[in-house]
Amino acid sequence: MPFIIAIDGPAAAGKGTIARALAAHFGFHHLDTGLLYRAIGAKGGDPVAAARSLQPGDLDRPDLRSAEAGQAASRIAALPEVRAALVDFQHRFAAQEPGAVLDGRDIGTVICPDAAVKLFVTASDQVRAQRRAAELGADADEMLIQLQERDRRDRDRAAAPLKPAPDAVLLDTSHLTIAEAIARAIAQVEKAR
Ligand code: C5P
Repeated sequence: MPFIIAIDGPAAAGKGTIARALAAHFGFHHLDTGLLYRAIGAKGGDPVAAARSLQPGDLDRPDLRSAEAGQAASRIAALPEVRAALVDFQHRFAAQEPGAVLDGRDIGTVICPDAAVKLFVTASDQVRAQRRAAELGADADEMLIQLQERDRRDRDRAAAPLKPAPDAVLLDTSHLTIAEAIARAIAQVEKAR
């Protein structure tokens, strides 16, 4: 049985950094599931058709990291048919030996409810806005408004809303260095192995 690590949380909390580090440390595969929704939002046209015909190559577009792509992603991510069309792809990815790390919003709650380790990564709104602003070369106040709007949309939707699984371990990275956050995540995985 492959070992599955599910990492969820709001935008710019540190999920991606932690997921990549865990995958490298344990020799697991890593899928940033936000890229699936970003790729569909960026394609334009009918999002359900785009979700059904999504190819791995669609995830390599360089413009997917922008704030606009994030907003477009969170709009189409509220559509149940879009989410349903992406389930098989994520399940196949998670089934790879020796293990996989998936990060997103609904991995521990919907996609991999039986994951061996579930982390819910958070940070204060201000810290997240500053981090994302530095990453994208954008204004922190503008980033704060955008992140809060996106988180609200992700939390309030009916289909697979952003929330911690009941058995998820909360990891608040507001006052942690990247190295500290990664060390805590590794410790949680070691406990479950
Ligand atoms: O993680 P990232 O910020 O790239 O995700 C972009 C958007 O995709 C999120 O705001 C959310 O609406 C959606 N998403 C989702 N479920 C996931 C991953 C991302 O709904 N598992």
